Amino acid sequence: MSLENFDREIYDLTNSELKRQTNYLEMIASENFTYPEVLEVMGSILTNKYAEGYPGKRYYGGCEFVDEIETLAIERCKKLFNCNFANVQPNSGSQANQGVYGALLNPGDKILGMDLSHGGHLTHGAKVSSSGKMYESFFYGVELDGRINYDKVADIANIVKPKLIVCGASAYAREIDFAKFREIADSVGAYLFADVAHIAGLVVAGEHKSPFPHCDIVSSTTHKTLRGPRGGIIMTNDEVIAKKVNSSIFPGIQGGPLMHVIAAKAVGFKHNLSDEWKVYAKQVKANAKKLAEVLISRKYNLVSNGTDNHLVLMSFLDKEFSGKDADMALENSGITCNKNTVPGETRSPFITSGIRLGSPALTSRGMKEAEFEIIGNKIADILDDINNKDLQISVKNELKELASKFIIYDKAMY
Ligand SMILES: Cc1ncc(COP(=O)(O)O)c(C=O)c1O
Repeated sequence: MSLENFDREIYDLTNSELKRQTNYLEMIASENFTYPEVLEVMGSILTNKYAEGYPGKRYYGGCEFVDEIETLAIERCKKLFNCNFANVQPNSGSQANQGVYGALLNPGDKILGMDLSHGGHLTHGAKVSSSGKMYESFFYGVELDGRINYDKVADIANIVKPKLIVCGASAYAREIDFAKFREIADSVGAYLFADVAHIAGLVVAGEHKSPFPHCDIVSSTTHKTLRGPRGGIIMTNDEVIAKKVNSSIFPGIQGGPLMHVIAAKAVGFKHNLSDEWKVYAKQVKANAKKLAEVLISRKYNLVSNGTDNHLVLMSFLDKEFSGKDADMALENSGITCNKNTVPGETRSPFITSGIRLGSPALTSRGMKEAEFEIIGNKIADILDDINNKDLQISVKNELKELASKFIIYDKAMY
């Protein structure tokens, strides 16, 4: 029986979500539109298979084909990141990070990561996350200019003496200098762990410096700039660490791997290894740059005054309206983004003084600098007159028209 006939409620809601994804301009920096082939294999019979363990060493029979699938995913992942070992089983970025900590740390060990309110991720030691509950977490941040001050990170590391330093962020618009982090980690004898969830798609295209050979261990999501299925991965060049990671993921924190998602990761990696991928990643950066240029020309303040990657952080510290107000006004105008704290924040994390805008999803739809120029100007128009509801309605219609020229999916289910 088809989904349409069996469960009309879920069928209709999925189609409504397709309409939303089609009609709105998706500018949440962590989101993307994955490939139809990725969706196809995720909806396949591979979901039926239990395969606890790793290729060649499973706890279930009948794993000959999923072994080949996982091996392909591992080999492609290693090639992409130019490293010796990869674990493609983490169900999410958060579980990948939990797996990294489990491999290298004991409860109570000290970790040093980027503060959540400065652009870090929950899993980098935030007190509400298991990373902040199981380990003693300390933080570095960004300066008022929106950049990491590596001398300050070194000073904090020297005082804290962490066992592991996390570099990588969810909201940082500038290149991360992995070599400098290596020097800092070496100065205190810490492991260096890069979480490249946000920038991985740029890294594998050579559009952002690689965390290897500087980092001991690297994690990523596969669904952000990498544009694959929702999931996580862990990479290293160190055989001892690789063995610890494998047992930290299974049986440490996970049971049966999601074989349909691992197959989808392999398909995503095949895209990431193609020549077209380099063109895509370049365009992601060029589009973010264009957006930044337009917003600056319209007299808006950007954290760090620009971008080196796929995202732009607007600061409204000098404005009467908040990040939450801007987020809502843009949502009413057909643009989806998220409110974000900014350096020197004066409002609460629920209100904030900024928004984060990303280029990956619209680039996947085929938009280029010309479209980002239009969109940047529309964003400025809306924010210039933030209480003008009529303007929001008319911009929403205009942007729906623009979006209709860049259709990515012809159906919700593949
Ligand atoms: C830097 C970073 N690491 C890890 C994650 C967690 O990924 P997931 O949502 O798949 O758990 C995110 C997600 O936003 C992230 O930005």
